[in-house]
Amino acid sequence: MAEITLYSGITPPPTPESRHSGANASPTPSPSGYKGTLQPDSAIGFAPTGRASRSDKNGKHHMAVIRRARVTDAPAIAKVYVESWQTTYPGLVPDSYLLGLSEAVSTQRWQTQLSTQRETCGVHVALERTLGLVGFGSCGHQRTAIPGHEGEVYTLYLLDSAQGRGLGRRLLSAMAADLMAKGLEGMVVWVLRDNPSRWFYERLGGQRLAEQTICLGRALLPEIAYGWRDLAELARLPINPPLE
Ligand SMILES: CC(C)(COP(=O)(O)OP(=O)(O)OC[C@H]1O[C@@H](n2cnc3c(N)ncnc32)[C@H](O)[C@@H]1OP(=O)(O)O)[C@@H](O)C(=O)NCCC(=O)NCCS
Repeated sequence: MAEITLYSGITPPPTPESRHSGANASPTPSPSGYKGTLQPDSAIGFAPTGRASRSDKNGKHHMAVIRRARVTDAPAIAKVYVESWQTTYPGLVPDSYLLGLSEAVSTQRWQTQLSTQRETCGVHVALERTLGLVGFGSCGHQRTAIPGHEGEVYTLYLLDSAQGRGLGRRLLSAMAADLMAKGLEGMVVWVLRDNPSRWFYERLGGQRLAEQTICLGRALLPEIAYGWRDLAELARLPINPPLE
């Protein structure tokens, strides 16, 4: 695992007794009322109250819904994953690595993840009525050792054409609500330092917590961790607002 440098002022939470613990802990309800992790998949769909529409920069109107991923979403998630990496990271991640990404391999991974890790990992997808699955995010327990932040957003990717319409915010909110519902306090997300998307996390209140260097395709790449100690505000953002 890469060595992490914590920025100064990052300390464990001051009131450990206020934290949940053990099997008796009751999951914290989502302030937004989102039940993406608790309802059966079929309960969240294109129902009139579960839609939100938003225009893109060309004025085209889109309707989108955020819901928990199903195993059958794996191929579409893999497609978004590979395509988003290939449009986001040229110049940051070596071309050889990007060209080596395979939808087939990624589909296998997501299928396994979605069928075996539902309790530990939450995967949420953004679906547009005409375009289908255009984005996704996954979250679970923090994998590094940043104090005071139990959850982590592992991935958050949208197709280029679906960016800038509020879907990233809604997916992040769904993951915050999911982590809260699992009883986890706080979350981090690691982002390549030179990825302009990190300003998205700044915009949504993420605090710079730490940095590390990772190795991708033989390149050493600096990453920054953003963190939210309290997820309530993020989770309160409307995940599936009513149709405008
Ligand atoms: C990062 C990403 C998930 C953000 O989702 P999005 O739907 O495009 O962002 P939203 O429309 O929800 O934006 C929410 C706010 O963040 C701001 N924002 C989003 N991306 C930004 C950027 N690159 N720079 C500055 N601000 C940004 C928006 O302007 C908006 O602010 P507002 O409330 O003032 O309007 C999406 O752009 C994406 O998938 N990028 C490519 C993949 C990637 O880098 N993923 C992150 C890997 S860690």
